[in-house]
Amino acid sequence: MKRIGMLTGGGDCPGLNPVIRAVVKRAYHEGIEVIGIKNGWKGLIENETMPLDLRAVSGILPRGGTILGTSRTNPYKKPEDVEKVKANIKKLGLEALIAIGGEDTLGVSAKLYKEGVNVVGVPKTIDNDLSCTDFTFGFDTAVNIATEAVDRLHTTAESHHRIIVCEVMGRHAGWIAVYAGMAGGADIILVPEIPIDVEEVYSLIKKRREQGKTFSIIVVAEGAKFKKGQLVTQEEKLDSFGHVRLGGIGQTLSELIEEKTGLETRVTVLGHIQRGGTPSAFDRVLGTRFGVKAVELVLQKKFGQMVSLQGNKIEAVPIEKAVGELKTVDLDLYNIAKIFFG
Ligand code: F6P
Repeated sequence: MKRIGMLTGGGDCPGLNPVIRAVVKRAYHEGIEVIGIKNGWKGLIENETMPLDLRAVSGILPRGGTILGTSRTNPYKKPEDVEKVKANIKKLGLEALIAIGGEDTLGVSAKLYKEGVNVVGVPKTIDNDLSCTDFTFGFDTAVNIATEAVDRLHTTAESHHRIIVCEVMGRHAGWIAVYAGMAGGADIILVPEIPIDVEEVYSLIKKRREQGKTFSIIVVAEGAKFKKGQLVTQEEKLDSFGHVRLGGIGQTLSELIEEKTGLETRVTVLGHIQRGGTPSAFDRVLGTRFGVKAVELVLQKKFGQMVSLQGNKIEAVPIEKAVGELKTVDLDLYNIAKIFFG
């Protein structure tokens, strides 16, 4: 093994740079050259690369985002793009490819592997919705940011006797909402896994008022929807993987609450702040362990596999298995969160 490639695809995520650094350092010890592919699959379609030597990765451990850049480009949208990807892998002399991404990037990796490309996957997403791994890096950082936001929102909610709805990311899984809501002591947590019962929301707020608590904090996941409603989206357009752009449920919910209860209700949408900035210590360590293991899988020629966290061990699982099904919130965990509602 002389030369391998590495790319980051999908949304940026705290912990990507620690993985990049770990791959380069581990590969260096084996005398393997690492070529950085710029901007996800787009870089392999357009043959845009950068050298990744020890110098290139120096000082990147605490940096958010990805030094490789990223995109939501799906090569399987056009058959000619898949051919370009394969041709460029050959042209660059890449004997293996480490693809770091979420379900979309890894979904492409699984298909390419079936077509003979030597891919190893590294799971990444703040949403923590990938199967076959207990956690993805990025999630812990996002949860810490959202928890701090919930703590800060308490101050205004309490002083002004308001209801504050805090909308968090997570796509179709409520992991960020449940963790940040539990850690921040939210009074109600609403997730995509359980349709919102607005009557229950009103009655929990009312119950709190009766107990003399004049404020309430509600954490709602962007993918949550009403019992008889649909997903609230920002636009109708789909991205190249067929995803809608979520967002807006917080606003809709806060208007309903204000109308029904007559209480001043405000909304805060955390948005990309949850993905920005320096990774937490946990995500730096997890990213580092994933990066080292990815190179080891390459050395063992265990292609078509993804690194994963199982308990406290880093294991390998088939990429195909990991992208087969979304990992949604564990209902036992949600039931614990519910004990603290109201
Ligand atoms: O998958 C990560 C994520 O941040 C989701 O939580 C969110 O729905 C989506 O990406 C937003 O994507 P973009 O940054 O492309 O708008």
